[in-house]
Amino acid sequence: MMDISTELLGQNLDNPLMNASGVHCRSYKELEELMSSAAGSLVTKSATIERRMGNPEPRYSATPLGSINSMGLPNEGYEYYLEYAKKHDYKKKPLFVSLAGLSLEDNLKMVLAFKETGLPCILEVNFSCPNVPGKPQLGYDIEAMERALHKIAEAYGKPFGVKLPPYFDIAHFDQVAEVLNGVELVEFVTCINSIGNALVVDTESESVVIKPKNGFGGIGGDYVLPTALANVNAFYRRCPKKKVIGCGGVKSGNEVFQHILCGASIVQIGTALYEEGPELFERVTKEFQEIMQRKGYNSLKDFRGKVKTM
Ligand code: SIN
Repeated sequence: MMDISTELLGQNLDNPLMNASGVHCRSYKELEELMSSAAGSLVTKSATIERRMGNPEPRYSATPLGSINSMGLPNEGYEYYLEYAKKHDYKKKPLFVSLAGLSLEDNLKMVLAFKETGLPCILEVNFSCPNVPGKPQLGYDIEAMERALHKIAEAYGKPFGVKLPPYFDIAHFDQVAEVLNGVELVEFVTCINSIGNALVVDTESESVVIKPKNGFGGIGGDYVLPTALANVNAFYRRCPKKKVIGCGGVKSGNEVFQHILCGASIVQIGTALYEEGPELFERVTKEFQEIMQRKGYNSLKDFRGKVKTM
């Protein structure tokens, strides 16, 4: 009997798939559609203190190999997601809440507000949005990220997770892992956010394809799969007491299998969900189960983190 369930912070997910924050999760309607889908869990759009309209449109464009976006954190403000968290049916699926304060003070205010509710929602603190003009990604300032993680852990006092940008150098994997391992309450890391500040150009129009930041934006989809797998595996190897959530380049059961083989406990889907809608979870689950069946695996534990090296 095949079991594809997984677990995080004592909460069970029937299925390891969920949305990536930012995709199909801004409004209650979208969140409810994820609740009705085959996803094992769901995460809300990264929240700031105040409601934000985000960057000017067009701010997302599909490309042959994925997507580019510079959304700029359009969201309803953290109180909206806090109200949603109060209504959520935790018996049905765990709920992740993504927070992307524009300052440490904002993040502290939001984590305290969630702490006060005593709700079992799981916080994913986003240190990796590349799209807010004038706000660099905290994940690339390792000392500032370390200070922020300690302050957040102290204020929240409960386990939480952090969404990281992609790293591209072994020295950076080592440094970031040391920081993460120094904060016991960091229970999980989500790898990766989009590869930030890329530029997609259309030959015919001789133009960039999105409006904000002169066309610079985060890329996702096929472009990022190998980088995502490298980051998942790098942190899986270096942070044995933490769980890794894989995100990046997933569009079928095949990439889900690869993320788990590299060490992911849960797998998030962004660009493909944006393009296909929540029905995708049923298709991808079926494809993933077919791969497990073909290989004779009965549970995720049978192959998680067991990617072979030469
Ligand atoms: C955005 O809203 O710009 C995307 C969020 C993110 O990349 O974290």
